[in-house]
Formats: sequence, C-alpha cells, structure tokens
Amino acid sequence: MIGVHPAWLPASAFRSVGSRRVRVIGDGPVVATVRGEVDTAVAEHGGALVDDGPADLELVCGPDGGETDPEAFVVGRAGSTTVVRAIDGVGLLYGFHHVVRQGEAAFTGEARARRHAPRQPVRMLDHWDNIDANPVMGQVERGYAGGSIFYADGAVRADLSRARAYARLLGSIGVNRVGLNNVNVHRTEARLLTDLLPDVVRLAEVFRPHGIRVHLSVSFAAPMTLGGLPTADPLDPAVAEWWARTTAEVYAAIPDFGGYVVKADSEGQPGPFAYGRDHADGANVLARALAPFGGTVFWRAFVYNHRQDWRDRSTDRARAAHDHFAPLDGSFDPNVVLQVKAGPMDFQVREPLSPVIAAMPRTRLAVELQVTQEYTGQQKHVCYLNPMWREMLAFRPWGEGEPAVADIAGGRGAAPAGGVVAVSNVGDDPFWTGHPLAQANLFGFGRLAWDDRLTPEAVLDEWIGLTFPGSAVREALHEVMDGSWSTYERYTAPLGVGFMVNPGNHYGPSVDGYEYSPWGTYHFADRDGVGVDRTRATGTGFTGQFPAPWRDVYESVETCPDELLLFFHHVPYGHVLHSGKTVIQHIYDTHFAGCEEVSRMAGTWARLKDDVPVEVFERVTALLEEQLRCAIEWRDQVNTYFWRKSGVPDAHGRRIY
Ligand code: GCU
Repeated sequence: MIGVHPAWLPASAFRSVGSRRVRVIGDGPVVATVRGEVDTAVAEHGGALVDDGPADLELVCGPDGGETDPEAFVVGRAGSTTVVRAIDGVGLLYGFHHVVRQGEAAFTGEARARRHAPRQPVRMLDHWDNIDANPVMGQVERGYAGGSIFYADGAVRADLSRARAYARLLGSIGVNRVGLNNVNVHRTEARLLTDLLPDVVRLAEVFRPHGIRVHLSVSFAAPMTLGGLPTADPLDPAVAEWWARTTAEVYAAIPDFGGYVVKADSEGQPGPFAYGRDHADGANVLARALAPFGGTVFWRAFVYNHRQDWRDRSTDRARAAHDHFAPLDGSFDPNVVLQVKAGPMDFQVREPLSPVIAAMPRTRLAVELQVTQEYTGQQKHVCYLNPMWREMLAFRPWGEGEPAVADIAGGRGAAPAGGVVAVSNVGDDPFWTGHPLAQANLFGFGRLAWDDRLTPEAVLDEWIGLTFPGSAVREALHEVMDGSWSTYERYTAPLGVGFMVNPGNHYGPSVDGYEYSPWGTYHFADRDGVGVDRTRATGTGFTGQFPAPWRDVYESVETCPDELLLFFHHVPYGHVLHSGKTVIQHIYDTHFAGCEEVSRMAGTWARLKDDVPVEVFERVTALLEEQLRCAIEWRDQVNTYFWRKSGVPDAHGRRIY
C-alpha cells in the first residue's frame, strides 16, 4: 500500500457529486473546505464547479428564515437541482457529506425539502495521546494503532498532513470537538497549556476548517507545576487568578478554543480532594476562567478508590461516581459538563448504564464511550460497537415513555446539553485504526452522535458503501461485523461480570487476574457460584442508585436481565436463566459458540479475497487468525476455570481441560 488508507473518503465515494455541475455559494473557512472538496471531486469524476448557469447541485451558505442552528442543513430539490442550504459553513459541510453518503439517491430520490440537525450539540473525540512515549503505555495510552498522529520527537509534528487528513475524516461525520492530549497529563504534555501553546495553535488551525474546536486535558496541579504557586487549592484567589490569566493567554492565541478536559482525583491524578474541596469547587475554578471566552470544562466523573483492599466487600467501585457526584447536583457552573463513562465500571463489553446519568437533573452531562477497543479486542478483534452504544444511548433510566440517555445528553431532559464524548482509536498506522474494520467504529461513533436513532446496520451500510465501492462485499461484511459485539461478549467474561483480562495490558483472558488486586474489579467465583451482589437487600446497595423501575428490576434475580445477572447478583452455578439454561451451562455454551462464530467470520472474510484491496485482505486475514487464537484461549481458560471450580460437567460432553 502506498501512503495512508483513505478510510471512508476514497475518491470513488465522491463519484455522484463529482460527475455533476456543482455551485457553492458562501464565504468563510469551512465553506472554503466544501469548495475544495467539490473542486477535487469534479476534477476526478468529470463534473464542474460552476459560478452561473444550470447546476445539478447547489450548496448555499447564508441566512435562511428562522434557522438558528449553525450545524443544521436543509436538503431538497428544485426542478432538477438538488439544493443544500445552511446558515453556517459547518452546516454546509455536513449537508455536503450527507449528499456524498446518499450518492445517486441525492439526485433521483425524494424531492421534498428536509431539515437535518444533530441530536447532540457536542460530539467530541478525546485523544489519549502523549507527546513523549511512555515505556509501558506507548505513546497513545490504550492506543492500538501505532504512535500519535499529532506528536513526534517531543513536540507537535512538523508535518501535520496526517492530522489534516484526520480532521477531514472527522468533519465528514460531524465530530465537532477534539481533546488533543491524554487525560493522564504528564510533565511535557502539561506544558501544552503554556510554553508549548504555539504548537496547539498549529493543531487548532488543522481542525478549524472542518468545524472542529480543540480542547486540552490539563492537570489540576498546573498552578503549582507550571505556575510555581505553593498550592492548587481551587478556593485560593491566587490559584483562580493563575487559571484566569493562563486561560486568557490561550484564548488570545486560539479565539475558538473549546476548553479543558480534566481527570482529577482519579487513578493518581491530582485534584481538589487534596485541599478538602469537592469536585464542584474544582470544576468551577476552571469554568470561571473559561466563561468570559465561551469555553467549557469537561470534568470527568471517573473517580473511585483504585487502592481498594480486595478483602473489603463493602466497597463497590460501581457506586463510586454516584457517591461522589450525585450530592453535588446543582453546584456546577453552567459551563461545566460532567463527563460520565457510560458504564459504572470501565468500558466493559457489558455493563448497565451509569446511574449518575439519571441522578443529576441540574447538571450538564456528557456520556463517555470508548472507541479505542481497550476491553473489546484491542483492534485485533473485529468488534463493531454501534449496537452497544446505541443500546446505551437508547436506555431509559425512568422506564418507557421517559427520556432516554441520548435525550439527557442532548439537552432534551432537565438540564442543557452536555453531549457525547468518546476516546478515539486512531494512530499513525496506515489504516488509521490498526484493524481496517475498526474504522467502522470511528465512523459509527460520529454518525450515532449525530443521530442516535440510526440503526447500527444502517450506519455500517453507509460505511461499507463509502469504504468499499461496489456492492460485492456488502453482505459478507454485514455477516462478519453486525453481530461481532455479541460474539466478543460470548467468548469473554460472562453475563456482565466483566474484566477477567490480563492485568496491565487488558488483552486476553486471565480469569483471576484482578481478583486479589486493589482495582475493585472482582467476580467472587467460588465452588458454589459467581457474581457480585450489588443488591440493597444483601449486597453493596448499588441497585439503589437507580431510579424506579430499574432499581427494582436489577434488585431481583427474577427480573434482572440475563446479560447483566452477574453484574448485580452472586448466584449458584445451577441458577436457571430466563433463557432456560443454568449459569454454568450458559458459560460453556456461549464460549463454544463464540469461537465457532469467529471461525465462521474468518471463513466469510476469506471469500472476499478478490473483492477488497490486497493490503486490506491480508491485514484482516492475519488479525482474524489472532482473534480466533485468542477466542480459543478465552474459551478454554474460562470453561476450564468454571469446570474446576464447580465440578459441573458440560451437558454436551465437549472438551474442557
Ligand atoms: C481506564 C484505562 C486507563 C485510563 C482510564 C481513564 O482505566 O485503563 O488507561 O486512563 O480508564 O479513563 O481515565
């Protein structure tokens, strides 16, 4: 392969637009991006960018009646001309890519004008990129696609062409904010806020033409480590003054700077607890520095005791975010967004929704997802995540007829919008994401953040259509990818119990890997049963953090959904699931089935040899081999572990070691 894979924007994706007469009306940097796209497309496909005379496609940026959302656009047809209108360049860019995705249908389909607007005003990707490579974590924390596309040799890269191509990809799917550095802020990266700021200016210039604002992750201790103050106490006037002055300097350099991302009092990062202050005190001092400039602080709720004693059965990591933050509802400034991991633990393949999301009606909340596949196969395994994300965004904490998580994040609940944030999965790998099929997760995140009602199959279909022109691979790729999240779940930790991964790198099985660790991630398997009792009646009381009806649904083994049973309950191996199987037989069956499914995926993929580029074919083929090896390892370790613990044989007499 020469150079970098075009992902979902190969030249062929622009054929329908590029073979037509196109007019672009409007000014500004993002309109210039649209004009540039059209220019390239018509040059490639024989159309023309026209100023006057008849046009097949008109892209118009300008005032439009009552429209107020700069990100919205209207598409319709006037005679034989398809017209896209927006009041801002960014809306026009989104409208342009809508037409690109539609292909010929944009010129032949329904003529009635339709308005499109994002369901989430904030659609953000956080990059856990470090400037300096860490000997253990590498350069990108939990990155599985090589080094950073932003940083090299101790600074922002001299050549930002890769970052530019990335910004273009993100703009095409509607991502509108990026966090530029790891939430664990190390020494060099902290300086992006001060002496390395000119470098951040360069990155902001890369993202601006695509309608994307940049954020920095900052260290709560920065007033001390960068400012030389004796304290970082958020209530100390000198500290507030330092943040205000430093922030003003950032805005002088980057007027459209988005704001900060903060991981405080979490896994060793500094925070307000050191001064006896709470997280509202901590977040608000930053919010007040950002407010005069329209900036936002994304304050993470991932706060828990990572030095827990495994013998202590009363401490429950799942409770921690709610315990810390729910009492603070109403005390955050309006430009604070509390960024809550979607699940209460940590991006496992199956978790309930974090109860924090329903507990803070007077706080702007963002839901945080993980596109990088830390716990879902590390971009060695095919695991298409939109089905999981959609389920989470569609979850209704107060039951049917009440707002969904997507409504709360999108500002249709009680508080204004916070948005949807995810940890990116890209690196300097030629395929961007290591596994070529993991590009679908990045694409899928953007599309779902734009409209959470899109089905995972429809989103995947768009991605396939753009990435693999021609329809030869469509059906096979659906076969490989549609159910891949469920497949991954089947061969890994069962019934919502989570973890069972190798400590540290989190790849591959180690059933007891975290069982006697300080991290709060236990499964409590013994000879009689498995699972975590999080009930109010006899357990940690976590179920009580949910509103009705879920507090009761989860409380009872009778009503708790099978897939979350071991998240909420410790049950005997003979407990019968709603599926009619015992827990132990479910474990055996799903682990055998998961491996068979991976074999089938590999077989289906093998049929595509002549239908996809050879580099893609070879990379995916090799990774499927690794996925199968790893799935078999999971199957055999998990099945063997539970057979030895329980002494219950497999009803089908299959080989367990
Ligand atoms: C996980 C991950 C860490 C990361 C943390 C976070 O625990 O393993 O690498 O720093 O999440 O979200 O802050």
